[in-house]
Amino acid sequence: MLATKRLPGDAWLELGDVEIAPVDGRRDEVEVLIVAGDVVDDAVLDRLPSLRLVANYGVGYDKVDVEACRARGVAVTNTPGVLDAATADLAIALLLAVRRRVVEGDSAVRAGGFGGAWSETPFLGRDLAGATLGIVGLGRIGSAVRQRALAFDMRVVFTRSAASEDECYRSLDDLLREADAVSVHAPLTPETRGLLSRERLALLRDGATLVNTARGPIVDEDALVAELVSGRISAGLDVFTHEPHVPEALWALPNVVLTPHIGSATVETRAAMTRVVVDNVLALGRGEALLTPV
Ligand code: 8YV
Repeated sequence: MLATKRLPGDAWLELGDVEIAPVDGRRDEVEVLIVAGDVVDDAVLDRLPSLRLVANYGVGYDKVDVEACRARGVAVTNTPGVLDAATADLAIALLLAVRRRVVEGDSAVRAGGFGGAWSETPFLGRDLAGATLGIVGLGRIGSAVRQRALAFDMRVVFTRSAASEDECYRSLDDLLREADAVSVHAPLTPETRGLLSRERLALLRDGATLVNTARGPIVDEDALVAELVSGRISAGLDVFTHEPHVPEALWALPNVVLTPHIGSATVETRAAMTRVVVDNVLALGRGEALLTPV
């Protein structure tokens, strides 16, 4: 068994001896590969001829070539469900941070600027209550965001891959025109890559806030940077197109809050994700059905 990283939490110990190493050479004996944000493509699979399972530490498996795995009879698992609350919390945290200018205020205080709060820089933000949140992708995480947004007295509209009769369902373009804030919760697939194109971003209302805790390439990053540099919209971004690269043009912008892909990064959630990975590996060993096959 090979893992690219040691995963946090006690469940990990149940796996016994696991070699922690990158897949950089041929390994004839490896049957299980545990990855966390690593690419698994034909080149990697070629090095592991006995592989039976790729256990992905994360719900999003866009870096794993599932078709290539399938063609070789290699199963793939992910960690759905256990990170919905943590990721939804971060989306709301980013939304609040941007709309209430939390990071700007923090920076001002640290620079000795508290006195300015009542005069030249009043740090006026925008209420969540009464504002409309557009959720792009009402799956497990999107639904957890909806629940939280409703608790903040927001109006929620959504779009999803399958059209819905729900009165809050919108086409993507209508959602972008209507919402004060938009939060992205779609998986990255060939269909969603570049979904929020330059033309679509232009549909956002002046002053709207875009939150992305899903995957960077769902949004046209160059177009987003241009919109943010112009100051027309604001954004809370946890994910980027070429991680760990974050466009330098964003670093000093007051209308952007940036975090380093920490949607699932809580002690409890990361341990729960490890539990799912370990249970899948143990199930394979016992010849039982995998818990969360992709
Ligand atoms: C992980 C994630 O940090 O679950 C996901 O899809 O993006 C995060 O929970 C990432 O997969 C790296 O392990």
